[in-house]
Amino acid sequence: MATDSSCQVKQLVQQHWDGRAKTFDEKSHHGLHSEEQHRAWISVLTDLVGDKQALQVLDVGCGTGFLSLLFAELGHQVTGVDMSEQMLMQAKQKARHSDLSVDFRLGDAEALEDEDARYDLVIERHIIWTLPNPEKAVREWLRVLKPGGSLALIEGAWGQNKHAEYREIHSSLPFFGGQPSDKLEAFLRENGIVNTRVTPLMEPTLWGEVPQHPRYLVVGLRGE
Ligand SMILES: C[S@@+](CC[C@H](N)C(=O)[O-])C[C@H]1O[C@@H](n2cnc3c(N)ncnc32)[C@H](O)[C@@H]1O
Repeated sequence: MATDSSCQVKQLVQQHWDGRAKTFDEKSHHGLHSEEQHRAWISVLTDLVGDKQALQVLDVGCGTGFLSLLFAELGHQVTGVDMSEQMLMQAKQKARHSDLSVDFRLGDAEALEDEDARYDLVIERHIIWTLPNPEKAVREWLRVLKPGGSLALIEGAWGQNKHAEYREIHSSLPFFGGQPSDKLEAFLRENGIVNTRVTPLMEPTLWGEVPQHPRYLVVGLRGE
């Protein structure tokens, strides 16, 4: 059960992203800005899942649908969950324009509505830093993963200067500013994820710029 203070934090988080939804994709480290960048991300995601077909994929904190739409393009069955209605509206619009099918839904990454063991892959990009209860979130992500399924986090360590507008809730967000990869990997292991590995994502093509901070993918498994 969410505490009152956690609800207040989430309300602020939701308002923040509702307000940024229309322009979120304009930054090249958020949206896709060239065919070269598109190819680079397709290659990262293909390396992640190999040649497996039609996986059940959950994109938590899917925002404007960045990962969801790429996985749909690769032929997977994708659900995207986000707590910001406005971010989801952008995601749905993009899906319509590209004729891709994704089940985009309003929901809380820390309290999912899915049944246990539903997904082959649970993935997120850039959301763990904005959660008040990351342990609870990881427990939920493990719960909805099939035994042997993969959890993948695309994260970074960008420091505390970002998101000045989050000032009033910084202290309620344990991973605010991101985490170095070794710390996040250790956190996942402590929370029951096995066979973890880290891949740096420092290729400028991915972000449309030379990354100014460490960026990486950490992947692990739900044990059998
Ligand atoms: C930096 S954006 C990243 C969006 C997307 N994953 C991407 O890579 O472009 C963070 C997203 O996390 C969402 N978010 C934050 N807390 C959440 C929660 N508790 N449950 C679901 N979504 C959440 C926000 O609404 C926002 O869309």
